[in-house]
Amino acid sequence: MKTYLVTGGAGFIGSNFVKYMLNKYNETIRLIVLDKLTYAGNLINLESELDKVVFIKGDICDQETIKAVFEKEEIDYVVNFAAESHVDRSIENPQLFMQTNILGTQNLLEISKKNWQIDDDVYKESVRFVQVSTDEVYGSLENEGYFTENTPIRPRSPYSASKASADMIVQAYIETYKYPANITRCSNNYGPFHFPEKLIPLIIKNVLEGRSLPVYGDGTNVRDWLYVKDHCKAIDLVLHKGKQGMVYNVGGHNEKQNIEIVRIIIDIVKNFMVEKPSYQTILKTELSKINYELIRFVKDRKGHDKRYAIDPTRIKCELGWYPETKFEEGIVKTVEWYLENQNWVDSVASGEYKEYYEKMYKGR
Ligand SMILES: NC(=O)c1ccc[n+]([C@@H]2O[C@H](COP(=O)([O-])OP(=O)(O)OC[C@H]3O[C@@H](n4cnc5c(N)ncnc54)[C@H](O)[C@@H]3O)[C@@H](O)[C@H]2O)c1
Repeated sequence: MKTYLVTGGAGFIGSNFVKYMLNKYNETIRLIVLDKLTYAGNLINLESELDKVVFIKGDICDQETIKAVFEKEEIDYVVNFAAESHVDRSIENPQLFMQTNILGTQNLLEISKKNWQIDDDVYKESVRFVQVSTDEVYGSLENEGYFTENTPIRPRSPYSASKASADMIVQAYIETYKYPANITRCSNNYGPFHFPEKLIPLIIKNVLEGRSLPVYGDGTNVRDWLYVKDHCKAIDLVLHKGKQGMVYNVGGHNEKQNIEIVRIIIDIVKNFMVEKPSYQTILKTELSKINYELIRFVKDRKGHDKRYAIDPTRIKCELGWYPETKFEEGIVKTVEWYLENQNWVDSVASGEYKEYYEKMYKGR
C-alpha cells in the first residue's frame, strides 16, 4: 500500500485532491494530511474523510514535525499544496509567503531527500515529490500567446515570486541531487470548498447577500479557469507517470475576463432562484436586486497581471491528460454547491470553522 503525504490538504485544492484520491483508489492507498490550519485551512473540508486519512496539524517549515512524519511513516509520495496563496495578502505581508512557500518547500525537500536517498543520486524505488505550482510564476501576458514550460519565469507579485523561488529550489534539487520530483503549473482553479476571499466564491457570496461586487480596475484582466477536479486528475497523473524532473503546465483553455466571470455568476444565481424558488430562502436581498448594477469597479490591484493563459500541450501529449469539465458546466455546478452548502459558507464567515480541529481532536 502506497503512502502519500499531502501537505496543505485542508485547503481548497488539497481537500479536493484528498477526496479525488480516496474516490479513485478507494482503500488501496494511505493518506497522511499535514496542514498548519492557517485561516485558509478548514478541516470541515475533510469532514467526510477524517476517518479515512491520518490528519496532522503541523507546519511544513518545522523540521522536527516533518522529520517525525518521515520517521514514523514510510512515505512514498509527497504532494506539496501547503502555501500562502492569496496575492492580495502577499502584497500586505510578503514575509510570511517567503517563509512558508520557499523555506517550507525546501524543508520538505531536504527531509524527504534524506529519507529517500539510498546512495549518491540513488533513491528508493518509485518515490516522488510533486510541487504544486502556478502559472503566475510566468508573469503576465498581453493579448496574444500562451505560457509554455519554456516560457521564462518572470513573477510580478510577492506571491508568484515566492512560488517561483520554490520552483527553482525544486529544480536545483533535481539537477544537483537527481532528486525525484516534478513541478505542475496550473491556471486558476474553481470549484467546491474555495475560500470566499477568492473571486468566484466571493462574488457568489456577495450576490446572495445583495452586496456590491468589487472588480479590480476595468475588469478586463484575463484568467484561465480550470475545474479543480481536473487539476487533481493532472497531479495524480504526474505523480505516477510524469517524466523525472519534468515541469507540466496544466490549463483548460478557458480564458475569461474577470468582468465576464462576475456577470456569468449573477446570471446563474438568478436562474437558480427562478428555476428553484426554494433557494430564495437563502437570499439576504430581494431577487429583483440581483443584477449587474451590483458591480463596482475598485482601484486596481498593485502590479495586477493582465492575462494568464496556459499551453497544456505537454501534459496532454505525454500523459494523456485532458480537462473533463467544460467551464459552462463547472461554473453552474460550483454555484449550486455554494447554494447547497450555506452552512459551510456561514461557518467560514463567522470563523466557527476554526474550532473544528479542537472539537475533533481534543483529548486525542
Ligand atoms: N487556487 C488556485 O487557483 C491555484 C492555482 C495554481 C496553483 N495553486 C497552488 O496550489 C496550492 C493550493 O492552493 P489552494 O488554492 O488550495 O490554497 P489554500 O490557501 O486554499 O490552501 C493552502 C493550505 O495550506 C495550508 N498551509 C499554509 N501554510 C502552511 C504551512 N506553513 N504548513 C502547513 N500547511 C500550511 C493552509 O492551512 C491551507 O489549508 C498552493 O500551493 C497554490 O500556490 C493554486
